This record gives sequence, C-alpha cells and structure tokens, in this order.
Amino acid sequence: MFAAALIPFSHRQHASRKVECVSCHPNAGGGSRMGTIGAQGCANCHRTAGLPATPALQRIDESARRGRAIRWERVHELPRWVWFSHGRHRKTTCATCHGQVAQRDLAEEEVTINMQFCRDCHLANNARAVCGTCHNEKK
Ligand code: HEC
Ligand code: HEC
Ligand code: HEC
Ligand code: HEC
Ligand code: HEC
Repeated sequence: MFAAALIPFSHRQHASRKVECVSCHPNAGGGSRMGTIGAQGCANCHRTAGLPATPALQRIDESARRGRAIRWERVHELPRWVWFSHGRHRKTTCATCHGQVAQRDLAEEEVTINMQFCRDCHLANNARAVCGTCHNEKK
C-alpha cells in the first residue's frame, strides 16, 4: 500500500482519464529503475487539463513550487543484494508482476514477488537462473 501524507493518489482515476503508465513512469522502456515523475510534472498536466484547485492538487502545486519531492510509500522493494532491472523485462507486461494497477485506487502487493516467482519464470523461459544472475555485485 502507498499513500503519501495527505495526497490520495489513485491509479484508477488516472487510467479512467487515459493517462498512460509512461506519462508518470517515464523509464518504462529503459534502465533498471522505473522512476516516477516529480511534483512539477504532475502539476504541469493538472494545469494543462484545467482541473479545479482541490486541496490535494494544491498540495502538489506547493511541493512543485518549493522544489520538494513527494515521498511515497513503497509497495515492492527488493533487498539491496538482489539485482533487478526493469529494462531487462521490457517484454513482460507490468501486470504480470504488479497486478491490475490501473483498476486500483490504492496500489497493493497483488503479486507476491519472491525468489520462487522470479526463478520459476526464468526457468520456464530459458533465461539465466544461476544464483549470480540475481545475486551479484552489480547493484
Ligand atoms: C498527463 C496528465 C496527468 C499527470 C501527468 C498527472 N495527473 Fe493527476 N490528474 C489528471 C487528471 C485528468 C485528473 C482528473 C481525473 C478526474 O477526472 O477525476 C487528475 C486528478 C488527480 C488527483 C485528484 C484530485 C482531486 O482532488 O480530485 C490527484 C490527487 C492527482 N491527480 C495526483 C497526481 C500526481 C501525484 C501526479 C504525479 C505523480 C499526477 N496526478 C500526474 C491528470 C494527470
Ligand atoms: C498519473 C501518474 C501515474 C500513472 C499514469 C501511473 N502511475 Fe504508477 N505510480 C504513481 C505514483 C505517484 C506512485 C507512487 C510513487 C512510487 O511508488 O514511486 C506510483 C506507484 C506505482 C507502483 C508501486 C511502486 C512501488 O513498488 O512502490 C507500481 C507498481 C505502479 N505505479 C505501476 C503503474 C502502472 C502499471 C501504470 C499503468 C497502468 C501506472 N503505474 C500508471 C503515478 C502514476
Ligand atoms: C518482471 C517483473 C516486473 C515487471 C514486468 C515490471 N516491474 Fe516494476 N518492479 C518490479 C520489482 C521487483 C520492483 C522492486 C524493485 C526494487 O526494489 O529494486 C519494481 C518496482 C517498480 C516501481 C518502484 C521502483 C522504481 O523502479 O521506480 C515502479 C514505479 C514500477 N515497478 C512500475 C512498473 C511499470 C510501470 C511496469 C511496466 C512498464 C513495471 N513496473 C514492470 C518488478 C517488475
Ligand atoms: C515473467 C517472467 C519473468 C519474471 C517474473 C522475472 N524475470 Fe528476470 N528475466 C526474464 C527473462 C525472459 C529474461 C531474459 C531477458 C533477455 O535476455 O532479454 C530475464 C532477465 C533477467 C536478468 C538479466 C539476466 C542476464 O542474463 O543478465 C535479471 C538480473 C533478472 N531477470 C532478474 C529477475 C528478478 C530479480 C526477478 C524477480 C524480482 C525476475 N527477474 C523476474 C523473465 C522474468
Ligand atoms: C531469478 C532471480 C533469482 C535467482 C536466479 C536466485 N535468486 Fe535468491 N532471491 C531472489 C529474490 C528476488 C530474493 C528476495 C526475496 C524476497 O525479498 O522475498 C532472493 C532471496 C534469496 C535468499 C534469502 C532467503 C529467501 O529465500 O528469501 C537467499 C539465501 C537466496 N536468495 C539464495 C539464492 C541461491 C543460493 C540461488 C541459486 C541456487 C538463488 N538465490 C537464485 C532472486 C533470485
């Protein structure tokens, strides 16, 4: 579950307005971390869309003005000694690992991401599955 203090963010609400994953997670095709846009990026779209200044949107604008990052609670977080890269999993849909995010108001851990989940898929797809594939010094 995640909820930044006082900002009730909903994936479902944005998906219903056809805002795509990549608009907020800009690294969808690229490097190891997916990344999430900052308050300025959020505020720009809300302004362009001409949304009314609700309390939640005012808080986002305020963070943007002050150049402050919004702090979100993490849903999935691997231990530091596991190496994972979104870029290496471009061909897999987000839903395979994250569930039906677009239909949720609150993101939750719908798919349990543990070693077995990772290894089973690697073995089924002839991807490398020796220990060092995911446990190494790269991270
Ligand atoms: C590409 C456009 C776009 C981007 C980028 C975007 N939003 Fe939105 N956001 C919208 C639209 C459109 C709505 C209104 C949805 C509706 O009609 O209910 C909305 C509504 C919201 C609301 C509900 C406001 C209220 O009080 O009803 C919150 C909170 C919100 N956005 C947070 C964010 C945050 C945080 C980010 C950045 C991580 C973000 N949005 C990025 C388009 C965007
Ligand atoms: C309007 C902006 C916006 C859109 C569009 C959006 N997200 Fe998000 N997403 C966020 C924000 C804000 C967070 C919380 C910040 C974070 O955890 O990095 C988040 C968090 C997540 C998380 C939890 C990350 C974690 O482990 O903590 C997942 C998974 C996710 N998004 C997947 C998706 C998928 C899949 C889509 C497309 C179906 C999508 N998002 C579309 C803004 C957005
Ligand atoms: C093969 C499984 C897998 C797929 C496919 C996947 N993710 Fe993730 N995602 C993860 C794991 C594992 C983490 C936690 C990574 C960590 O803690 O180092 C994560 C973390 C995240 C985060 C928070 C940390 C970050 O990297 O910014 C976001 C946001 C996210 N994913 C969004 C997405 C979106 C959007 C898609 C589809 C474009 C997607 N993910 C596809 C497994 C996956
Ligand atoms: C849905 C199937 C699937 C899941 C789930 C999955 N992977 Fe993968 N992974 C693959 C495939 C297929 C490749 C090979 C991609 C390629 O060669 O382009 C790969 C590649 C990788 C690589 C690069 C391997 C190399 O040869 O350099 C790493 C590291 C990795 N995965 C780690 C993980 C971890 C950690 C998890 C769990 C958090 C995970 N994967 C979950 C299918 C999956
Ligand atoms: C495809 C990726 C992948 C491969 C291959 C892999 N692991 Fe893991 N391993 C993980 C992930 C992801 C976690 C973290 C699980 C969690 O946080 O729940 C983990 C956790 C662990 C742990 C901590 C205890 C546990 O079960 O959570 C040990 C010990 C471990 N791995 C050893 C190994 C050994 C030994 C091998 C080789 C036989 C191996 N791993 C191969 C992904 C992998």
